[in-house]
Amino acid sequence: MTVVDYGLTGDSSLVAVERGLANAEWFLPEIADGRLRELQARSDGRAAVDTMVWLLLLVGSAVVAYVSLWSWWSLPAFVVYGALAGGAADARWHECGHGTAFRSGRANDAVYYLASFLLWRGPTVWRWSHYRHHTDTLVVGRDAEIVFQRPPDLVRTVLAYTHLRGGAQMFRRLVEHSFGRIDDEAADFVPDTELRRVVWESRVFVGIVAASAFASLWWWSVVPLLFVGLPTIYGAWLMVFFGITQHAGMRENVLDHRYNTRTVYMNPVLRFLYLNMNYHVEHHMFPSVPYHALPALHDEIKDQLAPAVPSTPAAYRQIFTTLARQRRDPAYEIPLDVPDVAGAPRHRITVGETNWAHGPDGAVDLGAADSLDVGELRRFDVGGRTYVLGRVTADEFALCDGLCSHQQVHLAGGAIVDGQIECPKHNARFDARTGAAMRRPAREPIGAYRVERIGDRIVSRLEERTP
Ligand code: FES
Repeated sequence: MTVVDYGLTGDSSLVAVERGLANAEWFLPEIADGRLRELQARSDGRAAVDTMVWLLLLVGSAVVAYVSLWSWWSLPAFVVYGALAGGAADARWHECGHGTAFRSGRANDAVYYLASFLLWRGPTVWRWSHYRHHTDTLVVGRDAEIVFQRPPDLVRTVLAYTHLRGGAQMFRRLVEHSFGRIDDEAADFVPDTELRRVVWESRVFVGIVAASAFASLWWWSVVPLLFVGLPTIYGAWLMVFFGITQHAGMRENVLDHRYNTRTVYMNPVLRFLYLNMNYHVEHHMFPSVPYHALPALHDEIKDQLAPAVPSTPAAYRQIFTTLARQRRDPAYEIPLDVPDVAGAPRHRITVGETNWAHGPDGAVDLGAADSLDVGELRRFDVGGRTYVLGRVTADEFALCDGLCSHQQVHLAGGAIVDGQIECPKHNARFDARTGAAMRRPAREPIGAYRVERIGDRIVSRLEERTP
């Protein structure tokens, strides 16, 4: 049986690039721009409530566990505490890492760092790893987050629920990073300028766990570690319970999330714990839609997707029968009923001369002001370049380079969030007025151009604004 190299630095990586699978254009379903804009809207309210409930349950179960220590009552309390800390934290980590859970960037970062600690994930390393996962989902040699590899190892899959191996690997990686030893994979996707941050984050996380271990030794009791450190291990079963439904057994090396990602209908309790990430196909296609709008997004586009798996038990049946079959035949694929639709050219990198006219004195007339809603972005291709025009407020328009400086995706498919243009691919943000890069993964600015309203027209001479 051929052994596939899933590493990011081996032959598979070169093959993926040669086959055009790296950083490629993916299928996107049709959705009306206005409806997508509504779904992309951010707010703090829903995430604040969900986060408060999660934290209250976390603290409440910890108190019950502490008060009932050494009685049987402490057992369910620790089960709940561990699942909330080492399991439900994963969805919080994920959504706040995308910067979409809250409207506030600080709130996203605060929860992201807390959840990263609870999961023993270096915040910066995993941020960049996840960008890559979204760029090259399930592309062998490119995606560092292919957990269930072919041929599947069923014993290892079942043992994943204990998180003993995975947790040990993650903690060892944190320790290595805390000593400044960056592994090859992290070095492959984390920019050099962020490596120092990687080291310091690891030191803080390792330091906290070490302090908890020291307290356990000092009092000769496992209790400190049961509250700080070990929940990452004994609570991780919930993370695996959800995580396996995302991509396990799905097709590798395709540029269509309908084939490599799974959407599963789940009940409201599971959806709270998992923050609606059961709508995983939809999330991968439109990462700028916050978790609370994913059910509505699903309703909009489900006719263009394969039918969702009807329940969690059905997903588990599909996963384990598929993994068992792929053990014998690693090339086996789940038969999927994917509708034959063309999809939308939302990200397509083509530059032509589109939708503009000559304005006064050689300026470019970009159209009627009233044709652009507040928060709307529109693409213009002028003189062999592509631009994005946005209406930031009722009175303010912005014109910037149309391609994201991270991976050259059209920004017109993104959103305007608090005066910033957000990229639809990995949620980088640019100041709409200056083009400055405001959020990773973008590190380079984009050009920003003077644009004005003359009468009822939007007009620009494409003069760059002074930074
Ligand atoms: S292409 Fe990655 S953030 Fe824009």
